[in-house]
Amino acid sequence: MQRIIVIFGPPGAGKGTQAKFLSDKFNIPQISTGDILREAVKKGTSLGAQAQSYMSRGALVPDEVMVGIVEERIKDKDCSNGFILDGFPRTIAQTEKLEKLLQKRGTPLTQVINLKISDKEIIKRLTSRRVCRSCNAIYNLLVNPPKVKGKCDVCGGELYQRDDDKEEVVKKRLKIYADETTPVLNFYSKRKLLKELDGSRSINEVQGAVLAIFQLLLTQ
Ligand code: AP5
Repeated sequence: MQRIIVIFGPPGAGKGTQAKFLSDKFNIPQISTGDILREAVKKGTSLGAQAQSYMSRGALVPDEVMVGIVEERIKDKDCSNGFILDGFPRTIAQTEKLEKLLQKRGTPLTQVINLKISDKEIIKRLTSRRVCRSCNAIYNLLVNPPKVKGKCDVCGGELYQRDDDKEEVVKKRLKIYADETTPVLNFYSKRKLLKELDGSRSINEVQGAVLAIFQLLLTQ
């Protein structure tokens, strides 16, 4: 059976960190819509040019663009045994469209894991986040720093701070999350697909909780 998991939560909740952990451990692709958009910006594609103006001010990229990206990505061969969505869906329109795409594919959503965390902790995490320009590995100067300052432990790439991790942009992203993304939780709760976790615990503790959910799914 294919496992299709959504890792959900506000900006900085740890979605990327946990999705990467599950992806590596179970060899299931992580589909991070934020990473796809940042890659497009880096390559200077027309998608990147379109997305950049939204991303730099913390706004959401239009639904039809995002749905198109996911629709294409999940057709790739590596998704044939399931996948982990990180950062999608984040509006009700995206959620409804995902449901239709999965119905068409004959593979319903398995589980949505929501990482809960306070705004105060999010601001602390995001303003101290650093990301590898080459392989997208995620670090945190406070709790998960690189071994060598400014260099990625995995590939030696340069670490940088995302433009949207500046405090004023983070606050805008949080407002958009509250207004446009939290209704998605209610949608999944009604469908009994939602598992809530305390995302404010340490990376290892959250990993343990995510792993326990995933291992249970493997037995079903
Ligand atoms: P996206 O990249 O998806 O950003 P986000 O959802 O705001 O999430 P983040 O990547 O900021 O955080 P995260 O939850 O992955 O946390 P992480 O693991 O890195 O989207 C960026 C933009 O793209 C959007 O604003 C929008 O413009 C556009 N976009 C993307 N998808 C879209 C969509 N579907 N629709 C429309 N627009 C879209 O962790 C954060 C930090 O905390 C790191 O430093 C990490 O090391 C640290 N950390 C992680 N876990 C812990 C822990 N347990 N304890 C302490 N520190 C931790």
